[in-house]
Amino acid sequence: MTRLDRVEQTRTLTPRTAVIWAVLRGELDRRPGERLTVLDVGGGTGGFAVPLAEAGHRVTVVDASPDALAALTRRAAEAGVADRVRALQGDGDALAGLVEPATVDLVLCHSVLEVVDDPAPVVAALAAALRPGGAASVLVAGRAAAVLGRAMNGHLDVAATLAADPHGSAGPRDTLRRRYDADGAAALLAAAGLTVEEVHGVRVLADLLPAAVADGQPAALVELERALAARSPYRDLAAQLHLFARRPA
Ligand SMILES: C[S@@+](CC[C@H](N)C(=O)[O-])C[C@H]1O[C@@H](n2cnc3c(N)ncnc32)[C@H](O)[C@@H]1O
Repeated sequence: MTRLDRVEQTRTLTPRTAVIWAVLRGELDRRPGERLTVLDVGGGTGGFAVPLAEAGHRVTVVDASPDALAALTRRAAEAGVADRVRALQGDGDALAGLVEPATVDLVLCHSVLEVVDDPAPVVAALAAALRPGGAASVLVAGRAAAVLGRAMNGHLDVAATLAADPHGSAGPRDTLRRRYDADGAAALLAAAGLTVEEVHGVRVLADLLPAAVADGQPAALVELERALAARSPYRDLAAQLHLFARRPA
């Protein structure tokens, strides 16, 4: 049993995390026994950073929020991995001043590209931080799910705005600046020189089900999410899209 096995056994996989962990697991399994250098941009309170550190990897979290970083530092200390987690306050598009270029094995950027001013420089900075052959795990908000969700809640005007907006935003009151379809997100990564290897849908069903079903059958839901994640058309209707990409060696 690997250290990641033990970490996974002690944590509950949810519809938000199971598909992403399965993809990351594939990358970690390619390099058994190696202690990877991981960078989590906008890593927040360490939902991924701390388990990766528990599995033996060295993780730097760059986040704009001092409060999130304080929570991350507490969480890492409680998990006994403070020595493997570094918290840096900073901007995703200014990584060059914080992280040595071409030194990172695995970069994570989850739920960040939809809130930054301009995603292109952030993705370029992620790519520059990676060693040749290093991998990127990028999670973005899905556009189709947002349109369907607004419509099903009766907000047809908002759904129409979102569907027509070139960036997939519902306007100034929207909490997200943009949303993606799979092709658009893949093109963003490709423009930074990354080769997209996998695209999965995250939360294909979870947000659509009545709470009684989601809460009553959590293991079955996770299993079904994993079964549908890579399959069209289910993937394209997911609340989030997960892209796994690599800097060419
Ligand atoms: C929605 S949270 C996602 C947190 C974590 N990645 C996750 O998936 O749970 C977005 C995070 O990105 C951070 N953030 C927003 N804009 C940023 C920027 N320009 N540079 C770095 N971090 C940023 C926020 O402080 C916040 O912690």
